[in-house]
Amino acid sequence: MEPKKDFDWKKLSFQYIKTPYRFHAHWKDGKWDEGNLVTENTIAIHEGATSIHYGQQCFEGMKAQRSKDGRVFLFRPKENMKRFQDSARRLLMAEVPEELFMKGVLEAVKANMEYVPPYGLGASLYIRPLLIGMGENLGVHPAPEYLFLVFVSPVGPYFKEGFKPISLKVEDHYDRAAPNGIGNVKAGGNYSAALLPLKKAQAAGFNENVYLDAKEHKYFEEVGAANVFFHFKDGTLATPKSSAILPSITRRSVMEVAADEYGIETIERKVGVDEIENIVEAGACGTAAVITPIGSMGYNNQIYKFYAQGKEPGPVCTKLYNYLTSLQLNDIEDKKGWLTEVIK
Ligand code: PLP
Ligand code: COI
Repeated sequence: MEPKKDFDWKKLSFQYIKTPYRFHAHWKDGKWDEGNLVTENTIAIHEGATSIHYGQQCFEGMKAQRSKDGRVFLFRPKENMKRFQDSARRLLMAEVPEELFMKGVLEAVKANMEYVPPYGLGASLYIRPLLIGMGENLGVHPAPEYLFLVFVSPVGPYFKEGFKPISLKVEDHYDRAAPNGIGNVKAGGNYSAALLPLKKAQAAGFNENVYLDAKEHKYFEEVGAANVFFHFKDGTLATPKSSAILPSITRRSVMEVAADEYGIETIERKVGVDEIENIVEAGACGTAAVITPIGSMGYNNQIYKFYAQGKEPGPVCTKLYNYLTSLQLNDIEDKKGWLTEVIK
């Protein structure tokens, strides 16, 4: 199905746009129902529900993109399914089985196919699977019922700059997540914890924060809504090893591409904030962020500028961005079988 005609595709930013259908499935008495598409974009929820009191909820972020010949593709959806299950297990929620997750995602995309943006505009259909604790409750317990919901919204770039360098504040006061907390799953609480520090970073002129490890405040962790990687003077591409960050599917893909396609030495290790002077290029990576070059970082009352004084993306970020986006749009061979076509 062609993209909608009476729609201004060029004006998209990362904001909610109502699409006609969303998928809902309910868990009660130990089992999931089949789920179905609904048109209503609000839900009624018990006033005591665990999701709204105790943060018993988790979500995912995925994208559907249109190729040059008008087909529609998802990028590594099974990885999101697995992470959604990891999140549910950590928060003691009913896991959404693989078939139901895929059905919900595919039905939500197919039903809103004309909202998958045209090829070549850097826009996509963002897919938001959500799992929330529902039903009557008061105390701190797992919920008696759950809702699995998938809605979609056409979006433009997460950072309004698109593929242009952003500036980050190295956040050395507020922590995002603790080493054995819930930073490694996609729970809403990690994002509410970051709202105040984000507001402060933006008020100080930065686009976002990069958080440090909560235990020692010595090592880089991740950005509020993306992982990070660093290209160092010694030629290695390093990304933080930490139990408190979200295992990003984009990051895993980017590191693999860097090693396999460009012969770059890649390493997942603790990256000290004291290594900041050795960074040549840095990037934020995620479904929404894609690869966003990090041009500079503010730390200890100093601004550290990376490639080209932070004015333009460096060559490593550029080739990784080009490869990843070309692959996601099916412009180049999908050697690793990362794409899933959505056929209506
Ligand atoms: N880290 C955080 C905190 C995120 O919200 C996201 C977005 O999903 C990522 C990392 C990137 O993960 P992925 O590449 O799987 O989208
Ligand atoms: C994503 O990249 O899909 C995310 O979940 C980021 C989001 C918090 C906007």
